[in-house]
Amino acid sequence: MAEYGRDCRAQPFMTSGHGSAQASAVLTAEGIGKRFGSGATAVTAIDEVTLSVKQGELISVIGPSGCGKSTLFNIIGGLITDYEGEVRIDGRRVSGCHPDIGMVFQEESTFPWRTALENVEFPLEVRGLPAAERRQRAQQFLGLVGLTEFADRYPGELSGGMKARTAIARTLAAHPKILLMDEPFGALDEQTRLLLGDRLSQIHRELGQTTLLITHSITEAVHLSDRVVVMSYRPGRIKRVVDVDLPRPRSSEIIESEQFGHLVASIWHDLREEASRGLAADEASRRSS
Ligand SMILES: Nc1ncnc2c1ncn2[C@@H]1O[C@H](COP(=O)(O)OP(=O)(O)O)[C@@H](O)[C@H]1O
Ligand SMILES: [Mg+2]
Repeated sequence: MAEYGRDCRAQPFMTSGHGSAQASAVLTAEGIGKRFGSGATAVTAIDEVTLSVKQGELISVIGPSGCGKSTLFNIIGGLITDYEGEVRIDGRRVSGCHPDIGMVFQEESTFPWRTALENVEFPLEVRGLPAAERRQRAQQFLGLVGLTEFADRYPGELSGGMKARTAIARTLAAHPKILLMDEPFGALDEQTRLLLGDRLSQIHRELGQTTLLITHSITEAVHLSDRVVVMSYRPGRIKRVVDVDLPRPRSSEIIESEQFGHLVASIWHDLREEASRGLAADEASRRSS
């Protein structure tokens, strides 16, 4: 029941104050910092991260493994409450989990004992929707992710990509105002990711949800985003924000374009140094362990 334990809808949240400077931003993270541990072994996972996401915008946060992406995701989603800085929704400071935020987790998170349809119905059950209504809404969202035919299958009978889509449909069914996704396709091969990226792009076009996507894939970030936030490795800071001014609607065919290639190259230029630092740190820690 790991996922259930993480379901925050029942937990309290607080609001206070107004942030007039970010009035047009739906989601703002300001001066976010997080240290794990203490003394000589303390790790500053992220430091002074400030970003804001406007209504309907899709922003990706990209960085090498260990740069603090999931830490930021967990802070914004309210799962980590002990941190520096402020998270605001519509200018109001929030603390803890918030019903306006829907989260899709990095790891496998479907309920294996429920069919795909019953998985998507789950948040609607929690909210007490009548059976007929929740079934109809769950079918609608399964359709949106292209899984109508697989409604009665259990996760064990689905591919990794189908499970990821089921998890996305389940989060979307709760109608969150803001969608946070932590490497939703992280475990999938590149081709499948690109095709599911097309599906995500289409859903984003239809629902217009304000979205923050955490990824380590440059291609995925450029394909899907309005802006890409590049993070440095340890401490995770914002190294650069890249505007992706590619036309929409986009399909994965756009990766063949010259402009796409330029954006990928430019992001890799920044990311390469950070990824190398991450690799060196990983090798050093393995040597000493
Ligand atoms: N609960 C924790 N306790 C101690 N260190 C942690 C914890 N969570 C993350 N870290 C450390 O914080 C850093 C960032 O981790 P994480 O946010 O998971 O990175 P990413 O998602 O970018 O791979 C890593 O060095 C990781 O070891
Ligand atoms: Mg992570």
